[in-house]
Amino acid sequence: MKVARLTLSDRASAGIYEDRSGPEIERVFGEAGFGEVEWRRVVMPDERGELEVLLRRLCDEESFDLILTTGGTGPSPRDITPEATRAVLERELPGFGEIMRVQSFAKVPTSILSRSTAGTRGRSLIVNLPGNPKAIGECLPLVLPAIREALRHLKE
Ligand code: MTE
Repeated sequence: MKVARLTLSDRASAGIYEDRSGPEIERVFGEAGFGEVEWRRVVMPDERGELEVLLRRLCDEESFDLILTTGGTGPSPRDITPEATRAVLERELPGFGEIMRVQSFAKVPTSILSRSTAGTRGRSLIVNLPGNPKAIGECLPLVLPAIREALRHLKE
């Protein structure tokens, strides 16, 4: 199975701080028992055009099963992850973002600042996760059952 984890962060990509979110995705996903995973690891700036080009390539040319993004979903002017994702999706799966916001809200009222979404392009599934490593630990487990099921449907 081919999984890409894309960290969208101007500062991490410039080396101002270390990317902790990408490795956290890998840790949480690795514990979920998806079997052998071939990882693509990318840390990139919050550039909409660059992200769209990469997402299209990973789906259309490299046949990635799953692309998990982290970061860039908030309300800051540089946050462009949901826009780039929506631009390449063929079918949106809005429930992913909805459940992450709702389930986090009681504990983290700022969860509603996340605009994350998800969906499919061809046989690839793309899911936006929040940028904070702690938020990944809170949100990714919530959507793993749906990821598993979606991947099954995409193979049909
Ligand atoms: N969700 C959970 N579970 N825990 C969090 O700490 N942080 C929120 C939100 N969702 C958070 C969360 C905040 S402060 C923001 S700005 C948004 O996710 C978007 O984060 P991003 O821009 O780093 O993707």
